[in-house]
Amino acid sequence: MKISILGCGYVGLVTGACLAEIGHTVVCTDNDESKIRTLQSGGMPIYEPHLDQIVARNVAANRLSFTANLGDAVRAGDAVFICVGTPPLPDGDADLSSIDSAARLIAVESKSSKLVVEKSTVPMQTGQKLTRVLAIYGRNSGCTFSVASNPEFLREGTSVHDFLHPDRIVIGVADEQSEAQLREIYRPILSQDFSLCPIHDGNCPARTAPSLLVTSINSAELIKHACNSFLAVKISYSNLIADICERMGADVNEVVNAMGLDPRIGPAFLRPGLGFGGFCLPKDIQAFIRLGEKAGVDVSLLRDAEKINKRRIDHFLAKAAHCLWTLKDKRIGILGLAFKPNTDDIRFAPALEIINHLLREHAQVRVFDPQAMEKTKAVFPTIQYCADPYEVADGCEALMIATEWESFKELDWQRIRESMLRPLVLDGRNLLNGEDMLAMGFEYQAVGLPSSDLGGIKPRPAGVPNFASA
Ligand code: UGA
Repeated sequence: MKISILGCGYVGLVTGACLAEIGHTVVCTDNDESKIRTLQSGGMPIYEPHLDQIVARNVAANRLSFTANLGDAVRAGDAVFICVGTPPLPDGDADLSSIDSAARLIAVESKSSKLVVEKSTVPMQTGQKLTRVLAIYGRNSGCTFSVASNPEFLREGTSVHDFLHPDRIVIGVADEQSEAQLREIYRPILSQDFSLCPIHDGNCPARTAPSLLVTSINSAELIKHACNSFLAVKISYSNLIADICERMGADVNEVVNAMGLDPRIGPAFLRPGLGFGGFCLPKDIQAFIRLGEKAGVDVSLLRDAEKINKRRIDHFLAKAAHCLWTLKDKRIGILGLAFKPNTDDIRFAPALEIINHLLREHAQVRVFDPQAMEKTKAVFPTIQYCADPYEVADGCEALMIATEWESFKELDWQRIRESMLRPLVLDGRNLLNGEDMLAMGFEYQAVGLPSSDLGGIKPRPAGVPNFASA
């Protein structure tokens, strides 16, 4: 099928590239012309594992193209996927102005009937508004527009895998033809039948066919907000447990590991730390709160989850202050800037808030991230960007881990300890093994560990098994 993608952010670009990968002809556009120029010249505006290979392969196969001409892009597709941003407004509501612009663009530029698919995360009832805008602005076009909601559940850092091997595909539709078109678009994914799995280089493990859920448009929109808000609540719950562990003397890793073994709870999204960041969970829970308030529903559960999240950084910085007393002129290193590993995305990343605080306190800040340095430079041009974690640690009085990149685990921590002025590590993600760090002579502070000393770790007495061997 011929497909147009409006918006080349993380969702749009992955959606476009993966739809081309499964055999469709896809034209992508964005109103940021520089992004399109980058893509046209073979570059990538974002870092996402495997995406560059898929884009290059499908461009070469003439299934994927990029144009800065919005009208041409709209006219190219039988289905138009709206993948534009829905950032938060100051009151927490989702800003839907880009959705509105996309709808008006489709209405006035189309020369044939279209299936218009909402891929962006939007509040319930956006589909109704979209239908109205298309009807009003497209009244002279002679085209008919049907609207569908097709929420995306991909996670940054694993988005190509998530798109090609989803747990479920949700399509919210108002008519049979839209359902049939979406079934056709997703047929290769529903049957897991595409020639080469780009992630597993042809050795794809047994593929499980995802469920297809056909719902109303309102339900599909709600499913997305309900999922993201539930994940946010789960993370805040694990952070609440972590705080109790710190104050009352238990190890949060032991507690959440045991919780996760209960299939009714599950292990995912129980990692305590600096709280949830990124462009999805923080804004989606806010927008969901606003939606609930408008509907007259008590949303205090969601408000509390958000409140717990907002306090995570303060709690972490309180630990730093407890260890360091004052921060002025102290050299502090930060490992990790992205809001999570395997991405260069720094939107609502905890590291940025930490840097802001350290700068306000006049600390000397040195940072390293495997992918997110360029994007951070645009926000903090004056801090010290280092070539690697060893340069960050050199002469530091504290090293803070703000993103759990796997590569940080493999560092020569002995070398790091020797180069630091004071071997203090504040691990905001519980990435490292506390006992190993202590044995190497570090002062080690993590999240939710038993100690009266604000999340410090005490060596396990000899003969007492650790969790893994118990
Ligand atoms: C999230 C959802 O997980 C996706 O299903 C959804 O499609 C996407 O939003 C979206 O709406 O587009 P993403 O923002 O990529 O995906 O990242 P997550 O993996 O959900 O992580 C969000 C934040 O929570 C990160 O800052 C991460 O560090 C934090 N987190 C996650 C924890 O603090 N603890 C955990 O146990 C898990």
